[in-house]
Amino acid sequence: MDLATHVDDRSPRGIAAAVARLVHGGELVPGDRLPTVRALAVDLGVSPATVSGAFQALATVGLVASRGRAGTFVLPPPAAWLPPRYRDLAEGAPARLDLSTGTPDPDLLPSLGPALARVAARTPAAEAGTYLSAPLVPELESLLRESWPFVPQRLTVVDGAVDAISRTLEQVASFGDRVAVEDPGFPPLFDLLDQLGLQRVPVALDRNGMRPDSLARALAAGASVVVLQPRAQNPTGVSLTPTRARELAAVVRRVPAATAVTVIEDDHCGQISSARDVSLGTWLPDATVHVRSYSKSHGPDLRLAAVGGPARVLDALVARRMLGPGWTSRLLQHVLVDLLTDPAAIDAVAHARRVYFARRRALTTALATLDVHVDGGDGINLWLPVHDERTALLRLEAAGIRAAPGTPFVANGADDQAPHLRVTVGLLSDDVAEVAQALALAARP
Ligand SMILES: Cc1ncc(COP(=O)(O)O)c(C=O)c1O
Repeated sequence: MDLATHVDDRSPRGIAAAVARLVHGGELVPGDRLPTVRALAVDLGVSPATVSGAFQALATVGLVASRGRAGTFVLPPPAAWLPPRYRDLAEGAPARLDLSTGTPDPDLLPSLGPALARVAARTPAAEAGTYLSAPLVPELESLLRESWPFVPQRLTVVDGAVDAISRTLEQVASFGDRVAVEDPGFPPLFDLLDQLGLQRVPVALDRNGMRPDSLARALAAGASVVVLQPRAQNPTGVSLTPTRARELAAVVRRVPAATAVTVIEDDHCGQISSARDVSLGTWLPDATVHVRSYSKSHGPDLRLAAVGGPARVLDALVARRMLGPGWTSRLLQHVLVDLLTDPAAIDAVAHARRVYFARRRALTTALATLDVHVDGGDGINLWLPVHDERTALLRLEAAGIRAAPGTPFVANGADDQAPHLRVTVGLLSDDVAEVAQALALAARP
């Protein structure tokens, strides 16, 4: 398209407005490349600085993004239905290699087809149950009980880990309450706390998870709920050791009995984690709600997470859910039972766990040879220290790679943490050396 013919006002503002009109009118679509600053300046008979000013204005409002030497591209419109931090994570141009998503490799999920066929053949129609049947099918309950890291009073299944956290928070916290969170931590958790009117109290991490001294300060500051990821923490990859879990439980126990503290554990990686399934519930069974997601191990679209903990929280949670979704489809629960007991599906998940471990190690080893050091860690995400977040993202974009910006993961805004990117290393099946080079270059001053 001859962009210059659509410009009637040759000021930066006028040029930006012309491009915006073309985008809104659908004549320029997401992914289209704008002419170079120099070429458009020549066509319009203005200085390159004028065109550059126009492009910068368009980038500021999120209509276009510069990808360095590759050019300036029209962006997809922001998704109004996404919460703010999800939107931050979704921003940016499509890339050849997208390591920004935090999602599992679809090729490493167990196949659903055989499980669906077996369940369809086996499950009698009567199994559909009634509105008054127990929401958790007994076969799944036994499997969960056998594998739960402590003895929970109650267990149930809900629509994913975030649903479990959200429903638990509704039971144990009220508007204005303080919630201790990992810093850095999971951005949608911060959005959820904002929505519920709960205040974040950041807790610092070291290589074994939340630091006991920092958690003690958060509890002394009045936090009545603690949300933590016991293993493969997103974004850092750190996991609690049993010793650290015991230390944290001791910190919680020191809080005066009158102040009931609830610990919510988000085991979002579940069976693809190579770290042990530790829980503060071993020492605090009356205060711990443990959540195990099957999104990373068996597929995000199953929307299944198990929740176990004290009756005072779980009974109220299930009762509240009966007045909405009611229960998780028993059909889906039987699919999960099948996947948790079928040898091929068990092997597929074990294979995925080993592959993720190997991918992570391959990248951290390659980075180390380039003098970028990332601690061991576990799971599908890697927390990459960079000199400057924006520069790093732009350099990666120029190399055709997308990573997630670190800022949304920081509990209290950007200023109190060194800049990082989150790289979903679990999706990196080949080109490790090349990607390591690009990441190392992106990280430099
Ligand atoms: C820490 C954490 N919690 C929860 C989730 C989402 O889990 P689910 O799909 O079970 O809601 C994720 C997904 O990446 C996560 O990283």
